[in-house]
Parts: sequence; C-alpha cells; structure tokens
Amino acid sequence: MTQDPGIVLVTGGSRGIGAATAAVLAQQGFQPVIADIAPEAPDGTPAILWPEPFDVGSEACVMSGIAGIEAAHGPITGLVNAAGVFGKMHTVERIRMENWDREVAIDLRGTFVVSRAVGVRMAERRRGAIVNVASISGMTSAPVHAYAAAKAGVIQMTQTLAAEWGHVGVRVNAVSPGFTRTAALEAGIASGALDQHRLTRNTAMGRLVEPVEIAHAIVWLLGATSSGVTGINLPVDAGFVAGATWDAYGGLRHDEARV
Ligand SMILES: NC(=O)c1ccc[n+]([C@@H]2O[C@H](COP(=O)([O-])OP(=O)(O)OC[C@H]3O[C@@H](n4cnc5c(N)ncnc54)[C@H](O)[C@@H]3O)[C@@H](O)[C@H]2O)c1
Repeated sequence: MTQDPGIVLVTGGSRGIGAATAAVLAQQGFQPVIADIAPEAPDGTPAILWPEPFDVGSEACVMSGIAGIEAAHGPITGLVNAAGVFGKMHTVERIRMENWDREVAIDLRGTFVVSRAVGVRMAERRRGAIVNVASISGMTSAPVHAYAAAKAGVIQMTQTLAAEWGHVGVRVNAVSPGFTRTAALEAGIASGALDQHRLTRNTAMGRLVEPVEIAHAIVWLLGATSSGVTGINLPVDAGFVAGATWDAYGGLRHDEARV
C-alpha cells in the first residue's frame, strides 16, 4: 500500500519567501497549503489557500487551524514556518516593549506554537519534516534587538526540536536568509529606508538573495534527498556571513580587477 504523500503547510505563504516556497513546492510535485494572517493566493501558484486568517501569534487560532486543515486536506507531512515580521530599527533606549513583545510573539513563540502543534501529529505518525525560516540576524548582530534575539531563538529551538523528534522520524531544520529581494525589501529600498549598496557590499557574491533561492533550500530540506539532515541552520545569504568581517580590512574586493 502506498503512503498518503500528505500536504506541506506553509505559514506566511501569501507573500515573499513563503509564496516563493509554495510555488517551488508545487513545481516539484508537493501539495502546498498556504495559511496566512492575511490569506491571499499568490499569483499563478497551484496551492490550496486556507481561507481563514491564521495568526501564528494566537495559540487558539493555530490549534483550531491545524485541526481544520488536516480534517479538510489530510495529514501534514511537511511544515514551513515562513510567517514573520521584521523588527523596528531603534536604538536600545527607544525600543517600545509592545514592539519587542509583538516580534517575539510572532517570530519566536509563533514558530514554536505551530511547530509543536504540527510536530506532535507528525511524531504520532512517525514521519515529517519541518523547516523554520530564521535569519542571518540571528547569527550575527543587527540593530533590530528583539528580531535578532527571536531569530537566534529559532535557530536554537530548531536544534532542540530536532533532538526531541529525531528518533520518531521527524526532521527539523532552519534556513537563514540573507537580505532577500521580497516586495517588502524592495519597498524599503524604494522609500530610502534601506540602501541596496549597503545591503550587498559585504556579501561575497555582491548581491541580494532571490526568494526562489531560499525556496529551493527549504524544499531540499523538506524532501527525501536530505533524509540524513536534521538540526542544521543553512544560511542562504549570498555569502554575507562569510564576507561581513572583511569590512574591518577595507572591504571585499568587488571592484578590483583580477590578475
Ligand atoms: N526578506 C528578507 O530579507 C528576510 C531576511 C531574513 C529572514 N527573513 C524571514 O523570512 C520570513 C518571511 O519573510 P518575508 O521577507 O517573505 O516577509 P513578507 O512580509 O513578504 O511575508 C511574510 C508573510 O507572513 C505573514 N504574516 C505576518 N504575520 C503573521 C502572523 N502573525 N501569522 C501568520 N502569518 C503572518 C504576512 O501576511 C506575509 O504574507 C520571515 O520570518 C522573515 O523574518 C526575511
């Protein structure tokens, strides 16, 4: 008897990295189901849209949403935690604790609440893969205090859940995007709040990351070809982590002629 291939739940799948991931999942023969606080079907992606607002910041909403999604569409065999909000950039003195609490509630607590709700079901069925979308901000430092702490927490939690569920056949990994060309990031560049040169000059490859590049890494970590991998954090950052320290030595040699 062949096993039900199940569905892949993508939180935050209506926009950005989540939407790109749903598209690549569909191209590769998975059945993505999108759940989002502002549910909207991304253009041209044959994904199922969960029509009710799915707020990862609300445990009650997550618990009823997961039960409803499985009742309607079958077992969740893959989970992508892509729902997230970027942090407010303030000096430490000006951080408002309601902003701190919101970022931690969605980016860290929300990732845990969804992972637990789905992971215990996967563990009972003894199969599943979870990919958490963290950030290079969680691996370095950034002037987004709560966001960076939340993302570092996501990377740590990924290891803990991997250790918890590895023996029952559930893998848990993270992908840490660098500066990624989503609509939100492009709007930031267009408004002048972000500077493309600054975002890219410390990356080894001298460029932004495309959402589809994050999506391919996520889909690899969900699929059978990564079957021996659990508990890792895979940066997909065009070499930001590798290149950032070169600024102290005068910067990367993007503009120098090679001999
Ligand atoms: N874009 C980047 O440069 C970048 C870099 C590193 C990490 N990330 C991370 O990637 C993930 C996706 O971000 P993105 O850049 O695609 O952003 P985005 O704003 O384009 O998409 C985020 C999606 O999450 C949804 N969402 C927000 N709050 C939610 C909630 N409470 N419950 C459910 N859904 C919610 C939004 O409606 C949206 O559809 C986030 O975790 C973000 O921190 C992004």
